[in-house]
Amino acid sequence: MSNSCSLKVVSLVVIYGFAIVQMTMAGDPDILTDYTVPMNATADANFFTYTGFRVLVGQSPPSTFKVLKATMGEFPALNGQSVSYAVLQFPAGSVNPPHTHPRSAELLFLLQGALQVGFVDTTNKLFTQTLRAGDLFVFPKALVHFQHNADTAKPALALSAFGSANAGTVSLPNTLFNTSIDDTVLALAFRTDVATIQILKKGFAS
Ligand SMILES: *[C@@H]1O[C@H](CO)[C@@H](O)[C@H](O)[C@H]1NC(C)=O
Ligand SMILES: *[C@@H]1O[C@H](CO)[C@@H](O)[C@H](O)[C@H]1NC(C)=O
Repeated sequence: MSNSCSLKVVSLVVIYGFAIVQMTMAGDPDILTDYTVPMNATADANFFTYTGFRVLVGQSPPSTFKVLKATMGEFPALNGQSVSYAVLQFPAGSVNPPHTHPRSAELLFLLQGALQVGFVDTTNKLFTQTLRAGDLFVFPKALVHFQHNADTAKPALALSAFGSANAGTVSLPNTLFNTSIDDTVLALAFRTDVATIQILKKGFAS
């Protein structure tokens, strides 16, 4: 084998090796320290404690669907730890509209009530389920999903865990109808007319 040929082989091995490492990296990038602390903070026990969910204790359910998050934005100690939580509160009849989390799967644990959930995979196949209190459901990473409390009387309460400190949320209604995407683009995409798109957009104006 000539020198230039063996060099090519080595390069290929390095490139494939790197690709495999990338494929098997399921969470946030690893940090090289035990934890990360912002410049203006001190690493004491309080830094690793989040009290933002205390408001839930003994509180009556909200009147509209509400998400309470503990991601690295609210809880900086999560930065680099590949975990976060969200508490989802569903009054009777409310919906968490179709959305995706680009950086993580979501593991939902239904604590109270009943919940209709669903996601659509990349072949456009819909998976739906009606959850009872005590059930867990996983929404695969980045796929479009929703939750609906179809009960007309009882609220529902769920806790969702994420494998990223910052899973991100892309809400489809908000992304499509609460930004300045051209009405003609949306009318063509949804096989309708501009007037219909403008009615949909109006529902999002504050
Ligand atoms: C540190 O700075 C960030 C960004 O300015 C701010 O949001 C946060 O409250 C500060 N934290 C502390 C402990 O002062
Ligand atoms: C529409 O977008 C604005 C600006 O980002 C936001 O404040 C508002 O809550 C959004 N409306 C709805 C209904 O989500």
